Amino acid sequence: VRAIGLQRFPAGIPETDDFVLLDLPSPPLNAGGVRIALKFLSLDPYLRGVISGRHLGHAIALGDVIPGGGVGVVVESDHADWRVGDWVQAETGWRDEAVLPADRLRRLPASVPPSTALGVLGMPGLTAFVGVQDILRPAPAQTIVVSAALGPVGGTVAQLCKRAGARVVGIAGGATKCRLAVERLGYDACIDYRDDHFVAELQRACPERIDGYFDNVGGRVLDVVLGHLNLHARVALCGLIDQYNRAERPPGPNLGPVIAARATLTGLVVYDHFDRLPHMLDALLPLVAERQIDYLEDISHGLTSTPQAFVRLMRGDNIGKALVAL
Ligand SMILES: NC(=O)c1ccc[n+]([C@@H]2O[C@H](COP(=O)([O-])OP(=O)(O)OC[C@H]3O[C@@H](n4cnc5c(N)ncnc54)[C@H](OP(=O)(O)O)[C@@H]3O)[C@@H](O)[C@H]2O)c1
Repeated sequence: VRAIGLQRFPAGIPETDDFVLLDLPSPPLNAGGVRIALKFLSLDPYLRGVISGRHLGHAIALGDVIPGGGVGVVVESDHADWRVGDWVQAETGWRDEAVLPADRLRRLPASVPPSTALGVLGMPGLTAFVGVQDILRPAPAQTIVVSAALGPVGGTVAQLCKRAGARVVGIAGGATKCRLAVERLGYDACIDYRDDHFVAELQRACPERIDGYFDNVGGRVLDVVLGHLNLHARVALCGLIDQYNRAERPPGPNLGPVIAARATLTGLVVYDHFDRLPHMLDALLPLVAERQIDYLEDISHGLTSTPQAFVRLMRGDNIGKALVAL
């Protein structure tokens, strides 16, 4: 069996010398096992994180076979459900042959090319489907923006949003990709984030601002898009490929843990909610009156103490609600 192993931990963008061709003994077929001749291996951005030990706790060691999905054909089977010639998808790693227990195999539909099980109908497609259904929730005439626009995640997101009636604007690197995004994937427009006029072009493509953003990249692109959100926009934080090759996390908020925690970030502006003040008082007033909810106050005295009290507040020296007693 030939496989690709990790020879050296990449510094920055991986180089071919970081990898090594391994010649491994062909494993025996255990009871219930299936031998697969692989036909397609999946290359995915998350593997860069796995290689540097930064992907949701997964890591590999030097000499290990690089993990990842694969699609192949059964060449030997000791399981009644699988016959020689069946197409399967499984987590195989980068190798040309794999032996796996039958319960780790997924059968492929015959109506589409087998490679789709690693892309639009596989893990990336599922990512897109869930992100659109659960997070973006596109509505007709809304503007949705998608970065890494041509990838299996972004391309699928875009088409699902188009089908929901949204206007979809892609972000991709280079004029060729941007043209393909429009011609092949149905984007209404696609903006090159490497172009000097990126920000102005994005604004021009989103004259009514942005109702949904599917972020695959993080970094500056995320920053720019966040500056153009509409009221009640939804943002799916899916990937941070802009930082996968960096040893140090770039400055700015640390969004990796947000993704890992499946957390929800929601903007809150109290001005929208003053109609709920009576409800709030009903709930809290008795508790405050009985001191079941306590509060701290930091009281300065006299009008002339106001500037200094404000300075203390902004320095963080106040303890509790800053007030001036006149
Ligand atoms: N959260 C999840 O569960 C989940 C699941 C699957 C995938 N993902 C994430 O979704 C994103 C897209 O995945 P995909 O499988 O569809 O792959 P993909 O889009 O084919 O990913 C590669 C593309 O990323 C873009 N990119 C943007 N900034 C980059 C940079 N600084 N360095 C390198 N590439 C950069 C490049 O296209 P452009 O330059 O044209 O943008 C490149 O072609 C990735 O971040 C991935 O980690 C997340």
